[in-house]
Amino acid sequence: MDRLPGRAAQTGVIRSHPPGQPGKRSVCSPTVIRINQHYRKLQAGYLFPEIARRVSGFLRDNPDASLIKLGIGDVTEPLCPAIVTAMKRAVEEMSVRDSFRGYGPERGYDFLIDAIIEGDYTSRGISIDRSEIFVSDGSKCDSGNIQEVFHRDVIVAVTDPVYPVYVDSNVMAGRTGRANDQGQYDGLVYLPATEANDFAPPPPDQSVDLVYLCSPNNPTGTVATREYLRTWVEWARQRGALIIFDAAYESFITDPELPHSIYEIDGAKSCAIEMRSFSKRAGFTGVRCAFTVVPRELMGADENGDPVAIHSLWNRRHSTKFNGASYIVQRGAQAVYSAQGLEQTGAQISFYMENARLLRESLTNSGFTVYGGQHAPYIWLKTPNRMPSWEFFNQLLDRAQVVGTPGAGFGPSGEEFFRLSAFNSRNNVEEAISRITTAFS
Ligand code: MLT
Repeated sequence: MDRLPGRAAQTGVIRSHPPGQPGKRSVCSPTVIRINQHYRKLQAGYLFPEIARRVSGFLRDNPDASLIKLGIGDVTEPLCPAIVTAMKRAVEEMSVRDSFRGYGPERGYDFLIDAIIEGDYTSRGISIDRSEIFVSDGSKCDSGNIQEVFHRDVIVAVTDPVYPVYVDSNVMAGRTGRANDQGQYDGLVYLPATEANDFAPPPPDQSVDLVYLCSPNNPTGTVATREYLRTWVEWARQRGALIIFDAAYESFITDPELPHSIYEIDGAKSCAIEMRSFSKRAGFTGVRCAFTVVPRELMGADENGDPVAIHSLWNRRHSTKFNGASYIVQRGAQAVYSAQGLEQTGAQISFYMENARLLRESLTNSGFTVYGGQHAPYIWLKTPNRMPSWEFFNQLLDRAQVVGTPGAGFGPSGEEFFRLSAFNSRNNVEEAISRITTAFS
C-alpha cells in the first residue's frame, strides 16, 4: 500500500521509500508509524524489570536455587482484616442493584477524601480543601504524569540517586538530551546525595523550575528534617520554583519530631505538590490506591507570564485521562483510617521496621557501612571494597542467593551502594542476613 504525498506528514506514517531515495527501504514493514524519539534516549529497561530479567536468567541456570528477594520494595504481608472487611462489604454493595455503582468521581469519593484530610492533615494542623485531593491508582503513575502540566522547557532537578520514574518520565517528555557515559541526561540538574551531605543535598544555586524530593527517601532511606524542608520551601518561594514532594513512605517515620508532610512547613502550599500512597502503608502494591495534593494557591505562568492555577491543569488532566480508582479499593483505603485499620496497619509497619532494624544492625555488626532503615523500609549499604554495585548484585545472587537493588540503578551517585528492602517475612530476612554475612565475612 502506498500513500499520497503529504499524507505521511499528516498521519505520522512514513513511506518505505522516502521521496527521492527510492533505494532506501525500511526492513521492518512497508509503512511505519513515527515514534516518540525521546524514548530512544532511555537507558536499557526500567530498573526493576531489568533485575527481574537477570533473576530469571539466574533461575534458569540454577533451577534449585532458593532465592530471597529484597529487591523491589514490594510488600509481603496480607491485607489487614479491617481493610478486607471493608472491601468485602463494598463487593457486596456492588452485587445489589440499589447499591451498585458505576463510574465514580474522578478525584475520588468524598468518604475517602474526608478520611485522608482528617487522618493525614487536620490531625497535623494542616488545612486542605476536599478539592485539593486527587485520589489515583498509584504514586508511580502520579509522579510520572505530573510533569505533563509543565512547559517542555522547564528546568528539572532530581537528587542522585533517585527513584527512576522522575527522570524517565521527563526524558520521555523530551525535556532532556541524551545520557552521558555515567547515565546522566543532558539538561537535567542532578543534586548528588552522598555520605558527605548526609544524603540530603541542599537547593541548587543554578536556575531550576521543578525539583523532585522524596522523604523518607527511596533509595537511601534517609528522612528530611523540618529544618531541611524549610530550606527547600524558602528556596522554592524565592525562586518561583515548584517542589514535587513524594511522601510515599511517610508512615515509616518513627520519630514524632520529623515531618510527614511538606505542608507542615509554612508557605509550602504555595510551592509544593505532595504525593502519598497506600502501597507500602497498607499493603496496597497489588490493590492500587494513592493520592496527590495540589493546593489551589499553587500558581504557574502562561506564555504571557499571567498566573494559572496548577490545580486547574491537573484537574483537567486527571478528569480527561483517569476515571477514578475503583469503589471497592477506595472503601479499603478508607478503612486504613478507622481505629482498627490504624492499629492493624501500624502493626504491619512495625513488623517491617523490625526487619529493617535487624538488617541494619546485623550488617553493621558484620562490618558493612549501613544507612537508612530507621524511618524507611530501605537499607542503603556500601558495597564491600568499593565493589561496583552491579558486580555486588551478581555476587550476592551467586554466593548468597539474595536479590537486592544495585545503587547505580538509581543514578551515578548510587554507585558502590546497594539497596536492601525490609519487605519480607521475618524468616527470610533472618536467613538473608545469615547468608550475606557468611558470604561476605
Ligand atoms: C521500589 O522498590 O523502589 C518501589 O517499590 C517502586 C515503586 O514504588 O514503584
